[in-house]
Amino acid sequence: MKSLIAGNWKMNGLMASLAEIERLGGLLKGGASAEVLICPPATLIAAMAPAARAIGAEVGGQDCHPKASGAHTGDIAAEMLKDAGASYVIVGHSERRADHGESSAVVKAKAEAARRAGLTPIVCVGETEAERRAGKQEAVVGEQLAGSLPDGAGPLVIAYEPVWAIGTGLTPTIEDIAAMHRFIRQKAGAGVRILYGGSVKPSNAAEILAVEDVNGALVGGASLKADDFYAIISAA
Ligand code: 13P
Repeated sequence: MKSLIAGNWKMNGLMASLAEIERLGGLLKGGASAEVLICPPATLIAAMAPAARAIGAEVGGQDCHPKASGAHTGDIAAEMLKDAGASYVIVGHSERRADHGESSAVVKAKAEAARRAGLTPIVCVGETEAERRAGKQEAVVGEQLAGSLPDGAGPLVIAYEPVWAIGTGLTPTIEDIAAMHRFIRQKAGAGVRILYGGSVKPSNAAEILAVEDVNGALVGGASLKADDFYAIISAA
């Protein structure tokens, strides 16, 4: 299975940030053994898509609405992301589950909307620090998977992102990452790529990406700078 290295720019990036794509292209020099994806803010997708394609990378959205169109001020349909040049969309990121009260049922509807539009959903799951301390991580992630994964067959990526590891510099032990990815593999089946996310950086990427059933990374902060993102891509 080819690794997927995905950058989630979150709410960062202006038109000037497109220069990072060119810089990344210069570093990749037309070749990467991993599939490379950048999920910029929605405002940059249309402008970034041709630039990304030119360096052999893809672009994705960070969220979508379950419906294809309608009276939903401020929301963006999966069809619109596709039209702007996206091929993936992240759904159910813990920041959206927390900031916007997204339930697993909503996340599932978004994942199904992504497939309807011809996008591959990247469904995010992960436990909080308190849940891990209580030893409930598999129960929590199992419940999120049961509620959030789209029905039926189709393209799917799952990202395991422990909430306490996001933006903190903390990561689970290699054994804990391996155990959770094994658990997700049992639920998701053989063909699904399972990404690890949460404080992935150049210094820990090789070790994490070498773990069995880790099929790539979802990278936040370290994806904003071409040099760091390139180092992570190279580790894959
Ligand atoms: P960081 O890599 O900044 O910890 O963020 C991870 C993340 O949330 C990616 O979706």
